[in-house]
Amino acid sequence: MAKITVLVGLQWGDEGKGKIIDLLSPNYNIVARYQGGANAGHTIVFNKRKFILHLIPSGIFTKGVICVIGNGTVIDLDALIEEINLLKKEGISLKNRLFISKDAHLIFPYHKIIDSIKESRDEKIGTTKRGIGPSYIDKYARTGVKIQDLNYPDKVRGILKKNLDLIKKIYDEYEEVSSLNIDDILEKVYKNYSIIKDLVIDTQSYLYYSFKKGKSILAEGAQGTLLDVDFGTYPYVTSSHPTSGGVCIGTGIPPTLIKDIIGIFKAYTTRVGEGPFVTELLNNEGKQILELGNEFGATTGRPRRCGWLDLVALKYSCAINGTTSMIMTKTDVLNNFEEINVCIKYDINGKKTDRFVTDCELLKVAKPIYKKFKGWKYNISECRRKKDLPKNLINYIRFIEEFAGVKISHISTGPSREQFIKL
Ligand code: GDP
Ligand code: IMO
Ligand code: MG
Repeated sequence: MAKITVLVGLQWGDEGKGKIIDLLSPNYNIVARYQGGANAGHTIVFNKRKFILHLIPSGIFTKGVICVIGNGTVIDLDALIEEINLLKKEGISLKNRLFISKDAHLIFPYHKIIDSIKESRDEKIGTTKRGIGPSYIDKYARTGVKIQDLNYPDKVRGILKKNLDLIKKIYDEYEEVSSLNIDDILEKVYKNYSIIKDLVIDTQSYLYYSFKKGKSILAEGAQGTLLDVDFGTYPYVTSSHPTSGGVCIGTGIPPTLIKDIIGIFKAYTTRVGEGPFVTELLNNEGKQILELGNEFGATTGRPRRCGWLDLVALKYSCAINGTTSMIMTKTDVLNNFEEINVCIKYDINGKKTDRFVTDCELLKVAKPIYKKFKGWKYNISECRRKKDLPKNLINYIRFIEEFAGVKISHISTGPSREQFIKL
């Protein structure tokens, strides 16, 4: 039976989505990205080699699986072509394997420049500087360029001219803006377009009719629930909808066709960039997690902020996404801890609550209330079956399931494909 499943990050991104999508892909015919752009960094490890994908879905390493970049994404053609070339070098041809939505919006050099300027000038969000926010601004201001618009060079030139005239006025003191040249931009864009033109299709109807013909689809989220522009810790969020609701908007798949929603989370919490983080550890334990988990951004290389698992936030994410099952990753990173904490309540100005809030002023002052767990002190990286897992880890898993009200179907115990245990 054909099915449509969503895989969504339940935290602030980097939950290990790339690894899990790669593992689940053989059960699907199509893997589709529905939002974000090259801000994502999805890591896949197999045969002792590591690949990081930013735009192309993580199903691309599975033979026969077709990958779709949906209409809800924003596409930097330079980044896309770089990735296509990387895959080509690996002998992966994208002919009939990758399709890109005609309705996806483009990221132009000025989007990346504005992203960087804003980060240096205004209050920092800690963006990836990939031009994501500025491109979505153009999309919603109706001043953006869709891929299909490239079929009309005069129209594109007109839109770019208006946009450049405006930003040159706003950012007149910045040389990198004043030196932007429309002909140079267009020349590069059309050179890139000629490379990917054959991959551009109406992915919305492709996905719909593929499903009708019995094909199963896996929707790949980028970022995570707490980075959602509506449901996350605004303004310290990305400019799209990583949550399951984003799938319908970002692919055209109607909500009634979605069956399972798999939420993915780390056994602890990380965050890159600015913004409140209630369980952040600014001590040695945080440093230990950073080192043991090798917590450095897959896109920017920045060290990730680390902290204990926040169940208040996790429960919220499960509810917002309608999560039907969960996968816990990076469980092995906690192998050597004597004691492991999970946050079960927030103390906000003396008031205790187990309800997450999106009010950053309250999150900033919220203090975590922890439940302590005895660590399992056992190297689970080599375990392959549930029955080999230590009892203290099973206790940890059961508590999380009960708190969130959602079952954990698998745990991940290392970066490679075989380090994955069904519960
Ligand atoms: P994504 O953005 O959600 O795909 O996650 P990233 O790729 O940015 O970050 C996850 C990192 O953890 C990558 O380096 C993965 O190779 C690694 N990883 C994934 N699962 C596990 C796991 O279970 N254990 C360990 N130690 N590393 C993992
Ligand atoms: P994956 O898909 C973690 C964060 C940035 C910043 C905020 C806004 O690998 O999980 P943006 O460039 O999107 O405007 O930045 O969002 N961010 C991510 N953090 N993982 C990601 O993607 C992220 N993509 C964006 O660090 O705080
Ligand atoms: Mg990542």
